[in-house]
Order: sequence, then C-alpha cells, then structure tokens
Amino acid sequence: MSATQIERRGPVAVVRLVNPPVNGLGSAVRSGLEAAFNQLLPDDSVAGIVITGDGRMFSAGADIREFGRTPPPGVPNLPELIDWLEESSKPVVAAIHGVAAGGGLELALGCHYRIVAPKTRLGLPEVTLGILPGAGGTQRLPRVAGVEAALELIVSGRLVSEREALKLGIVDQVAEGDVVAAAVAKAAELAATGTPPRRSSERDEGLAAARADPGLFDRFRRSMAKRARGMNAPYACVRCIEAAVRLPFAEGRHFEHQEFRKLVGAVEAQAMRHAFFAEREVAKIPDLPDSTPTRPIAAAGVIGCGTMGGGIAMVFANAGIPVTVVESDAGALDAGLEKIRANYQATVDKGRLAQDAMDERMALIAGATGFDAVADADIVVEAVFEEMPVKKQVFGILDRTCRPGAILATNTSTLDVDEIAAATGRPESVIGTHFFSPANVMRLLEVVRGAKSSPETVATAMALSKTLGKIGVLVGVCDGFVGNRMLHQYLREAAFLVEEGALPQDVDRVIYDFGFPMGPFAMSDLAGNDIGWRIRKAKMAERPAGTGSGDERYSGTISDRLCERGRFGQKTGAGWYRYEDGRTPLPDPEVESLIVETSKALGIGRRPVSDREILERCLYPLVNEGARILDEGIALRSSDIDMVWIHGYGFPRYRGGPMFWADTVGLDAIAAAMRGFQAVHGDWMAPAPLLEKLVAEGKGFEDF
Ligand code: CAA
Ligand code: NAI
Repeated sequence: MSATQIERRGPVAVVRLVNPPVNGLGSAVRSGLEAAFNQLLPDDSVAGIVITGDGRMFSAGADIREFGRTPPPGVPNLPELIDWLEESSKPVVAAIHGVAAGGGLELALGCHYRIVAPKTRLGLPEVTLGILPGAGGTQRLPRVAGVEAALELIVSGRLVSEREALKLGIVDQVAEGDVVAAAVAKAAELAATGTPPRRSSERDEGLAAARADPGLFDRFRRSMAKRARGMNAPYACVRCIEAAVRLPFAEGRHFEHQEFRKLVGAVEAQAMRHAFFAEREVAKIPDLPDSTPTRPIAAAGVIGCGTMGGGIAMVFANAGIPVTVVESDAGALDAGLEKIRANYQATVDKGRLAQDAMDERMALIAGATGFDAVADADIVVEAVFEEMPVKKQVFGILDRTCRPGAILATNTSTLDVDEIAAATGRPESVIGTHFFSPANVMRLLEVVRGAKSSPETVATAMALSKTLGKIGVLVGVCDGFVGNRMLHQYLREAAFLVEEGALPQDVDRVIYDFGFPMGPFAMSDLAGNDIGWRIRKAKMAERPAGTGSGDERYSGTISDRLCERGRFGQKTGAGWYRYEDGRTPLPDPEVESLIVETSKALGIGRRPVSDREILERCLYPLVNEGARILDEGIALRSSDIDMVWIHGYGFPRYRGGPMFWADTVGLDAIAAAMRGFQAVHGDWMAPAPLLEKLVAEGKGFEDF
C-alpha cells in the first residue's frame, strides 16, 4: 500500500498519510506527499487540498528510526517539503485528530488552516529527544502562537489539548463532527471566496511583543536553567526562536537547520533516542507472547498504610481503580489515611490538582482493619514492615482470604519473593511489585518475577504498570533486585571516598554536576541515615566482627557515628549536612571533624581525591554490578537497567542510563579502571566476567 492516498471530495482533494502505527514522516510518506502535490497542484479541477492522517492520529512526526541515516536519493527532506507545500497557491487545510507531534505539527503549521478534532494532543516534543523542531517549527510556531508560548512549548516539549491549542492560536477551529468533512468544507470555502493563502512563514503578529521586549530571552534562559541543566538542546531551541524574531523567515530556517544538524548526531540525542525506545522495549517480554492472557484489575487492596502503602494506594486511586487499605489497628489506619489526604491537599494547594479531582480520588480509597475487606480484590499489594516473619504471616492470611485468581504482590525491597510465595498455596499468583519512594511520584516499578510466578501473573503485573502510569521493568529475584543492588556499590564507594579524603560535599558536587538531581550524601539525608544504621546493627549482631571482604569493611562507620549523635538526616535537621531551612544541605564543620577523626581511627591517611576519581569510583562499580545482573539474567536487557536508573534514581536521561553511558565511555576504559581499583582496594572491585568478555570481543552492552 502506498504511504499516501488521494481521495476526491468534490473540488477538494484529501491527501491521507498512511504509515501505521503513528504515521511517522519517513521517506515513503515524504515521497508520497511530494508526488500527491505534484499531481494535484497543476490539476485545474482541484480547488483546495486537505492533509489528514489515517488510523489513530494525524502524525507523530519524523520517523525517529531514520535519524542518522541518509535518505534514499530523490526523497525530499521534511523542512524543504513543508516549505514547498506552504508555497501552494491553492488552500491547504490540515485535518488533525489524535496526535500531531513534532514534524506532524510542523507539517500542520505549513498548512494554511488547521482544524482539529476533540481529544487531540499537539506539540513539539523534539527537545525530549535531544533535538529541536527542525522542520520550521521554531520559526513558524512563534509567528502563529507568540514567542512566549513558543518558548514554553518547545523548551518543555509538552503536548497541549486541542482547547489549549485553540486558545494559543496554534489551530483555527475545533470540529464538533467529522474533522475531515469540516476541513474539506473550509478548503472549498477558502477557494470559492478566493482568499489568499495565509502562510505561517509570512505572519508577523506573534513576533511583535518579543521585538519590544529585548530582555525576554535572557529572562527565559534564567528561568529554564535548572531543568535544562547539562543539556544542549533546550538552549538551541531558544537560540532558534530568538533567530525567528531577529531574522527573515528564510534565514531563520537556515539557522534552525544548522542548529538541528549540530544536535542530531550528538551523544545527547543518541542517549535520549535510546531512552525513548527503551521505554517501549521494556514492556516486551520474550517468553510472554502478546497472546498471554491478563486478568482485569477492577479493584485493589493494599496491606499496610505507611510510607509506601499510602503512596501505592494513591497510585491506584490516581488511575481510577478503587482501593482498600488494611492496617493493623484503627489508630494506624487513621494516621495512614490522614497522610494520604495531606499529600493530596499539598498538591491542591500548589495548584497542581483540582479540589474535585482530589475528592474523587479520596472517594476511591477505603480503609479497614480486617483482611476480609480485600477478599474480592483483583490484586493485593503488601507493604508492611520489612521482616520475613511478618510478611509470611500476612501472605498466609491473604492466601486464606483472597478470592482464587487474585494476584498477591509484595513491595519488599530486600526479601526473597520466592520464600514469601512459599507461605501461600498459590505461588503462581505471587509476584513482587517494588515501587520506589515516593510511590505516587517515581515512575519506576520493578516487577519481580518469582520462580513460580505464572505467565498470566507476570503479564498482568506488566500491563498494570502501564495502567498505573509506571515504567514496569521485569527483574528476577536477588538481593536488592536491579536498582538497589547497583545502588549498594555506589553508596559503598561514596562512603569509602569520604573515609579516604573527600568530603560529602565534594562527592555530591561531582555527582550533581554529572546530572543526578542530588549526590549520595544529600540523598541519604533525605531517605534517613538511620535505615541503614538499623540494618547494619542487625547484621553485625548476626556476624562475628573482623571477617574482611569489601562489603564487610563497609560498616558505614561514619554514617553510624552520625546516627549515634541523632543525625538521621533532614528529618532531624542534621545528617551529613546541617539544615537551617529544613531542606537545603549546608556543609557542617562538626561533620568534617568527625570524618577526619574517623579516618584517623581507621588508620587511613587522608589524601586529596580528584573529581575524576570520585566519578569513576562511584559509577564504574555501579556499571560493573549492572554487568553481573545482566549475566545472571536478573535483567532482560541492558536498556532495562537504564530504565531502572533513569526512572528510579534520577540518572540523567541525556546520558541514556548507566549502561548506555558506559558504552559511550568505552567498556575497555571501565574494565581497566576497575582492574586498577581492584589492585588498590580489594577483589570486590574486580571487573565482572561479562565486562571482560565484551571488552575481549570488542563489543558494548548494546550488543548483548
Ligand atoms: N518515529 C518512529 N517510531 C515511532 C514514533 C516516531 N516519531 N513515534 C512512535 N513510534 C513508534 C513507537 O516506538 C512504538 O513502536 P513499537 O510498537 O514498535 O514499540 C509505536 O510507534 C507506538 O508508539 P507508542 O507506544 O508511543 O504509542 P502511544 O499511543 O502510547 O503514543 C505518541 C503515541 C504520543 C505519538 C508517542 O508515540 C510519541 O510521543 N511519539 C514521539 C513523538 C515525537 O517525539 N515526535 C517528534 C519526532 S522528531 C521530529 O519530528 C523531528 C523534526 O522536527 C523533523
Ligand atoms: P512503614 O513502616 O512506613 O509502613 C509499614 C506499615 O505496615 C505500618 O503502617 C504498619 O502499621 C503496617 N503493618 C505492619 N504489619 C501489618 C499487618 N500485619 N497488617 C496490616 N498492616 C501492618 O514501612 P514502609 O517504608 O512503607 O515499607 C513498607 C514495605 O515497602 C517494606 O517491605 C519496605 O522494604 C518496602 N519499601 C520501602 C521503601 C521506602 O523507601 N520506604 C521503598 C521500596 C520498598
């Protein structure tokens, strides 16, 4: 089938883009559009032209898979094609439904008139792919919608509803009935009245306000500094919009093209394309065909309404699924429900949620103190204390109480899912759903497949993650699963670096500058240093002192001393840092002297630690552990590990995740550095066998 189809409706020709699933503007579609216009423009019986998309949407833009490849000879590139279509002396009307994103919206902006169906989303999300709207979008959108709106939309990459698009002037009309029929009528009317084509490139009204306000761009750059940290694309977008104001259209378009070319091949864009495809790949499970049955989830239960249980209940309510939380007594239940209410209220107070939406969500959450209340739930997520006997007891009760076929999920972060499953008579229905804190905010969900979890249970949990708006990553059972197992390496080395000579603020600065939202010590203060302290105390009680691998040396000595002084972190106003306003970490001389004393007591001579060493010591062991996880089959793909780190720990998306980043550094360099660390520090830093193997074969994680 051809990638474009022409249909006549009286004097108007409708050109339909046909490239499922999203009508990406790949070379076949571009050639098809060119051929269609070559046929229709000279045809005197054609008075006007409508462009529309077949299937679910108008168009999701350029075919991202074609980036970095040279198009076949003779195929026009998208910017030139749009310029040429806009030149048409016959009226060209876009009939838009579903989605018009990126090049799709740029194509529509090249039309003379835009009519849109209800429930359509429009925008220029290129920046989220590390590039800019390179088909005239940075030049046409400010002319049509004004510079301020264009800056906000292009730099955020946000898609807007058809209503907002109408208000901003991006579209001209929202069709109540058939959008194509409305567009055909409009094209016929424009032709009959002899209205000259209204070309976005010739419009000027949107630029006037910015011309009168020379400080606008610098103000905007200051306002975006935090969210654009470390990236090039958002700044290139601003430069292009600035050029739209400063230069005639053709020169602005040329400027945009130059900037686009600088971005598209760079690592930032490669990393963000990798993340885009990884987010879709992660849902595909090789041994679970699409035909695997899934169970409908119409009602949920959550056991335990503490930090995690409360957040998980909100996740279900946010997705419109009624949920019942069960607590051990009325006091705990009231406290848990009150915490949920306060959480929603804070979002309402910030203007990010409407009061009636909050009321609807609260109405979906019920509370109980007996397990019978979840007897009919389709899934129950357990989030009680992290103690095996408690978990086993809860699963025993769930097994007796819940209806056959219900999924029994555990939110455990460290315990063996198989052992928990064995406490029931239906281990095939048991699975881990490891949410990240705060559960209602973090997008990551590790779905932990037990040895006996049935395909249906796994497929249902994976489908549910999508319904809940989460990135579900399927992982296997091991200590810490994927995320926390790798995190352990990172935190251990951060602690060692401080014992050896760095200060917490040095380590945190390097990690922040790398692109994480915060470094390991600020993160520990946020999570609470006492959690690790209690775990270590429990472990030390079980284990004779002085047995010495790296992990055992990781006694968290300094962290323990901080906790002994009540410095649990932000919640006590002091931890690795002191907090005057409750949240801004300030270096503390008291901590510095404690660190120096501890190094001395451990017999470690403090030395200067370079920024490079900090970065490599923190991140290479993390990547190394990722290699072990891959080798053991705990994660299915290296890109799944990247998803865990981007969506669970704030690894900078523009670096693609730890495994993608490792490939850009070079696995040989990482293996060599690990060997060096092993020689100095101990065998726990030995390169993973898979890392060595890939180096020997000249391959990267991408090839695994
Ligand atoms: N190019 C190639 N493939 C694309 C694509 C694109 N622009 N957009 C989506 N796809 C693919 C997806 O990878 C997915 O493939 P698989 O089924 O093989 O996994 C399939 O189409 C369906 O996509 P989704 O699962 O994402 O479908 P959805 O309904 O959940 O979302 C969407 C639809 C909102 C359009 C979403 O796909 C999306 O955001 N797409 C990207 C939009 C975008 O960033 N466009 C800008 C492209 S760059 C550009 O246009 C440059 C320029 O200026 C010249
Ligand atoms: P929490 O201590 O805040 O909450 C646990 C709640 O369970 C308490 O409110 C308690 O009253 C209730 N509870 C205990 N036994 C119960 C029983 N038999 N029946 C009903 N309710 C019972 O603990 P938190 O932090 O929410 O952790 C819960 C689980 O989530 C643990 O397994 C933990 O490892 C895991 N987890 C925690 C994360 C975190 O950052 N806090 C992150 C990811 C997982």
